[in-house]
Amino acid sequence: MINYKGAPMIETKRLILRKMEMNDANRMFDVIFSDHRVMDNLIKGPHKTISETINRLTEITKQYVSDKFCYWGIVLKESGELIGTIDLYNINEDTENCEVGYDIGFNWWNQGYGTEALHAVVEFAFRFMNIHKISATHGIDNPASGKIMLKVGMKREGIIRDMIRKNNQYKDCGIYGILQQEYLEMNLPNQISILNKIE
Ligand SMILES: CC(C)(COP(=O)(O)OP(=O)(O)OC[C@H]1O[C@@H](n2cnc3c(N)ncnc32)[C@H](O)[C@@H]1OP(=O)(O)O)[C@@H](O)C(=O)NCCC(=O)NCCS
Repeated sequence: MINYKGAPMIETKRLILRKMEMNDANRMFDVIFSDHRVMDNLIKGPHKTISETINRLTEITKQYVSDKFCYWGIVLKESGELIGTIDLYNINEDTENCEVGYDIGFNWWNQGYGTEALHAVVEFAFRFMNIHKISATHGIDNPASGKIMLKVGMKREGIIRDMIRKNNQYKDCGIYGILQQEYLEMNLPNQISILNKIE
């Protein structure tokens, strides 16, 4: 059975994962949601106005009342700067499987933060929530996303042809997954601390 824990505060070596807040709107618009370099790799394109970001954050923050909502902002421990987001979604109670999505602001790419955040959430899902399998897909023109999945132990399971359509162009996606048992058998040292009390 899945042990839902909501989105507790998670600490890694360099990051804090925490709940998003409405007053993150300006920052999120500036470093993530308005930046086509980040958003072109996601299903929905960049936000044109701050009000789109405010609407999105309203949608996100009101879901924290449910302990089934697992969405975090990614914050640099040293500076307190918010640099991205990560979430577990499509949590299926029949299979106990879910998907993971993430984004890091362009200025912080290629410094290992995406890998560190993904590893934290994978560990949290398997060790604390008892999730059975985590999957994710990425457009084949976005190899960095596939790279971080491989770095946390996810396996490439195949290509889904024409999975998404952006600007009227279909794109193939790579699909990746990792099973709880595979992760636990890797016997990795724990990467995360949970900073608030969870049951
Ligand atoms: C995907 C993303 C989260 C990666 O975050 P990040 O913090 O840059 O990731 P890391 O620094 O931990 O690792 C990136 C890896 O990709 C590699 N990489 C970067 N660009 C690459 C490219 N064009 N081809 C192949 N590998 C590439 C880097 O070398 C690094 O691997 P290494 O550590 O072995 O050298 C970030 O690029 C992003 O937010 N992109 C836009 C949003 C997005 O794509 N979200 C996922 C949708 S599926």
